[in-house]
Parts: sequence; C-alpha cells; structure tokens
Amino acid sequence: MSTIFQNAHIINPQSNLDYTGSIRVSVDGFIEEIIQGECDKSPDDRIIDLQGKLLVPGLFDMHCHFREPGQEYKETLESGSKAAVAGGFTGVALMPNTKPVIDSPLGVAYIRHNAQQLPVDLEVIGAMSEGSKGEQLAPYGKFRSYGVKAVSDDGTAIQNSQNMRLVFQYASNFDLLVIQHCEDKSMTAEAVMNEGVFSTKLGLKGIPDVSEAVMLCRDLHLIRYIVEHELHDPANKPRYHVAHISTKASLDLVRQAKAEGLQVTCEVTPHHFTLTDEDLFNAPSKGNFIMKPPLPSKKNRAAILEAIADGTIDAIATDHAPHAPHEKECPPDQASFGIIGLETAVGLTITELVEPGIITLSRAIELMSVNPRKILQLDPLLFAQGERANFTIIDPEEEWALTANAVKSKSTNTPFLGRKLKGRAIAVYHKGMFHESVTSQEHFSV
Ligand code: DOR
Repeated sequence: MSTIFQNAHIINPQSNLDYTGSIRVSVDGFIEEIIQGECDKSPDDRIIDLQGKLLVPGLFDMHCHFREPGQEYKETLESGSKAAVAGGFTGVALMPNTKPVIDSPLGVAYIRHNAQQLPVDLEVIGAMSEGSKGEQLAPYGKFRSYGVKAVSDDGTAIQNSQNMRLVFQYASNFDLLVIQHCEDKSMTAEAVMNEGVFSTKLGLKGIPDVSEAVMLCRDLHLIRYIVEHELHDPANKPRYHVAHISTKASLDLVRQAKAEGLQVTCEVTPHHFTLTDEDLFNAPSKGNFIMKPPLPSKKNRAAILEAIADGTIDAIATDHAPHAPHEKECPPDQASFGIIGLETAVGLTITELVEPGIITLSRAIELMSVNPRKILQLDPLLFAQGERANFTIIDPEEEWALTANAVKSKSTNTPFLGRKLKGRAIAVYHKGMFHESVTSQEHFSV
C-alpha cells in the first residue's frame, strides 16, 4: 500500500520541476514514483487529491528561537515544532541564545536527543562565543564533530573586532558558516525602534539604521583581510551570512561583496518586508511591533523589496522569537524584542511578494526551502525515485487570518493576528508522516 498525492502543482526548483503531477510515497516514507499526470493505482493505495494545491520541497526556516532549555514558558522544542508544522516547515535551525546558551557539545546533544521524536528536523546553531559574551570563542572543533553547521551570537553581536577576526579564522578552519546579527551596540543602547520621525513623535529612543551597516562593513573588511593575508588553504574562505537584513546600506554592501566573489549571503524576515516604523507608530498596542533589527523606514522597506526582486536576498527566515504576554503587553520601551513568525511566513510571502509580482512562486520556494538548505550545507531535497519524501502542501488561493486561538506556538506575540492573508501551508509530509495543519475536509478529497 502506498499513498498517492495526485493532481498537485509540483514545484521543485532544485530538481527543475514545475508541472501538474503525482507522487507515490511508500509506507516508510520514500518516493516510489513522481510523474507528470497520474500514477497507476492499486486498489489498496490511499489517494489524496491535491487539485489546485502546490506540492513543494519541505520549507526550512534557518532562523528560529525555541527557548529550550531555560525559557520553556515562552516555547519548547515540542511547541515550536508544532508551530513549524502549522506553518509548513519540515526543518528549522535553532539560534543558541537559550538559557544556558548552546556553547558546548552538551547543549547540542541535549537538543539533538530531544529532537528525535519531533515531526521536524532541528539543526543546532552553536554560539560564536562562550555565553555569547563576545570574549572567549566557543569550541568550534567539537561543534563540527557534533554535526553543527553554523555559529552565531544572534540577539547580540561580537563588538570587539580582534575577537571577530578570530571567529572568522576558526570558523573557516572548521568549515562553519558565520551567521551575524549586525548591530553596533555603541549606537543602540536603550534604543527601541527605528530612529526617525516616528521615534521622535513617540518620544522613544531610536536605533540609527546605520548601526547595522557599520558592523556589516567591519565584518566584510575582516573577511577581505583574512582572504588576502591569512588564508593558507583557499578552500577555507570564510562563509558569512547576514541575519535579518533590514537596510539599504547593508544591502548595497552585500551586493558589492557578492560582486567581489566573497562567500556572503543574507536573509530577510517577513515582518521586515511587510511592515514599517509607521505601522508601529499607528498601532494602539506597540509591543508586538518591537524587534531587532527594528521595523524599517519606508525607504528601507522599498530597498528590501528591490533586493528580494533582484536576487540580492538569498533566503526568507522568520526569526521566530516567542515572548510571554507580560513581556510584550507593556510600554514599548520595556517590551522584549521579537515576534513569532513560523505560522504566517507562507501567507505573508505569497500576499506581499508573489501576489504583487515581486517574485514567482518558484522563487518563493527557493527562498524558503532550497536556499536555506544550500546556505547551511544541508542535503538538498530532490524529488526523485528513492529519495526521502519531505514536502509541504500549500493552498496558494486560500484567504485566511491567524487567530490567537489557532496559534500552535506557546506564545502569541505577533502583529499579524487578524491580518488578511492569501496563501496558506496546509500540510507537510516528513519522516513518513502526513501532518495536516488544517482539517482535511476543507482541503483534501481523500
Ligand atoms: O527581535 C529579536 N528577537 N531579534 C533577535 O535578534 C533576537 C530575538 C530573540 O531572541 O528574542
């Protein structure tokens, strides 16, 4: 007995597929057949009709905070995984700013062990420095032997340039990707939102947008210096990824670095391509509009959209950052930074980017599945006979809105509750299991 997913619009840019067809999956979760049109059926096959739905490689979110260990009141590995499935993700990479910080093989082993029975793959990003304090480096060699692919001190950033130079040297020796949260802290202390007319009107301390590019520029110069003077093996060129990029100046720096041939990539979040500091200004309750980097100015949002369209931006990542109500329902200058994002990412990408014609559906899948896996050097998801079945089913036409009751994350801190979205992830198939995020009566004729 197999399961046949038929009449699906199959898109897999990795395998160059874009047609209406069928996938036959074995009981143990392997692709037995994938063809344009319909598969031959046996009487005991289970048929799932996907008329009008997309079947795409499992989405991967390369930037999430699941808060376990240490802050399970906000999110656990289990609740975060449920939110991921509801959003159509079959894998996520977890940032190490838990309590304690994941700065040792023990922390990596803890997450790996607990991830085994979860429906999604959890990749562990190791801390760049011990306790993410920016001083002593974490044990990169041990990280590598535990299968870690990247290091980051996300949420903060190494301010000391000599220490950052060492990060690049050691990370490239162990072939680890360096993921940077670009923020020059000397410019952002006590600041809450983008510095500009709206921060002035609200009387809130502003984060000057240049604080992102200042750090990015430093890092790119360190990389150039290392490549020119300190590299013994050209195969060890540093690989650098800019987390949640949010300004025109930063995007111009990435463009220039790519043109030079540096191994630089960047991601954007749905909230940074959707909202601006004016939305924060107009919001009656501002906590869920507070995050780092802050919501951009109109000009920076326009630059983000341009960089998504011209291919400068390589990936969409949510920066899923759960916080409890008491940490968000408070004056903006006391709110914790960050919002949840897994469950609205597909809807926002289709509504804000695909519907207005900024990118195609196929490019959206590259940004949300193919490229994050490439950047982290994970195995590609090929749609071919004998490969593991790992895919996401999306209804590109469904109009819907997320409600607080429907949220699967343990936290509900999102500015997108009640916002009308077009396009929704409705199921994933991974690890031999079919998980529906919404009821099958509405979506599948089985
Ligand atoms: O808004 C944010 N929240 N930005 C970050 O970089 C960290 C995150 C968190 O951990 O809450």
